[in-house]
Amino acid sequence: MSNLLEIEHLKKYFKSARGTVHAVDDVNLTIEEGKTVGLVGESGCGKSTLGRTIVHLQESTDGVIRFAGKDVTHLDKKQMLEFRKNAQIIFQDPYSSLDPRQTVQDIIQEPLRLLTDMGKAEIEKKSEELMDLVGIEKRLRMSYPHELDGGRRQRVGIARALALNPKFIVCDEPVSSLDVSIQAQILNLLMDLQDQLGLTYLFITHDMSVVRHISDYICVMYLGQMIEKTDKKSLFDKPLHPYTKALLSAIPTVDIDAQPERIQLKGEINSPIDPKPGCRFAKRCPYAQHCCHEPVPLTEVEPGHFVACHRVKEINQL
Ligand SMILES: Nc1ncnc2c1ncn2[C@@H]1O[C@H](COP(=O)(O)OP(=O)(O)OP(=O)(O)O)[C@@H](O)[C@H]1O
Ligand SMILES: [Mg+2]
Repeated sequence: MSNLLEIEHLKKYFKSARGTVHAVDDVNLTIEEGKTVGLVGESGCGKSTLGRTIVHLQESTDGVIRFAGKDVTHLDKKQMLEFRKNAQIIFQDPYSSLDPRQTVQDIIQEPLRLLTDMGKAEIEKKSEELMDLVGIEKRLRMSYPHELDGGRRQRVGIARALALNPKFIVCDEPVSSLDVSIQAQILNLLMDLQDQLGLTYLFITHDMSVVRHISDYICVMYLGQMIEKTDKKSLFDKPLHPYTKALLSAIPTVDIDAQPERIQLKGEINSPIDPKPGCRFAKRCPYAQHCCHEPVPLTEVEPGHFVACHRVKEINQL
């Protein structure tokens, strides 16, 4: 399988009164066509910034973004419209990302009206197909977002994202604001759509059970950097970075005997403002030593399993 998305040394910095926020700081990432990469990490680590930068909702500070083999790091207006058709984003809270004054039908048809030369009848037909595809009842087409439940609102958001037949979708916490029973329906819908349409996903979540359900590969972020990357099975069976171990130990399991000992993280979270070189997790890491103040590259520790930790071999007895 070929890579649909390739990101090299991507950076997104924000200037603030207190200094420069290194929200995304030298991230490398590839996503194979048709696969789902799950992106996890705690609040503020840069997940949304990475997703938004990839789909060009904001300009990158540095680095390269390649999409389907083409360099798309810098785009003029025309190229941007073309790129928009291929790369879409779905947000956590469909309520705030859907225009409250538009009907379901208007919302779904808007990208077709603005970005294609389809005629009225064709747009009608396509929007009906989209509603079918995501499971929204036709009788709801004149409803407004506030008249729908959370699950249906997210279905509308998904239909709108699919309108232009994209290849790639960033899903930014698309089920986090939904009831657990509805979460499963929406996750299953996203997986069915992937199979039917050959979609490629970057799936952002802070919920380890959600990421386990949906991902092929998983990336763990910490303060703007990737600290562990591998396939789903390796990540859950054999997490190697101390931070990933702590994240996984916090998932409750039904089987009390199988519950790993919960690792409590101590120490303050470093700030993403003007970070020092060295491992950004060191202050909270139970294994930190002097060497951890040195810069730490993401390294292939086992085949296909990348970790950024100076002490990874000792800690895991590799
Ligand atoms: N437009 C902005 N201007 C300044 N700082 C920003 C901006 N957007 C994000 N940040 C900062 O960048 C860092 C990363 O934020 P981001 O929203 O990407 O995190 P996240 O991992 O998506 O968090 P969450 O899980 O809470 O959604 C944070 O420190 C945030 O305050
Ligand atoms: Mg976010």
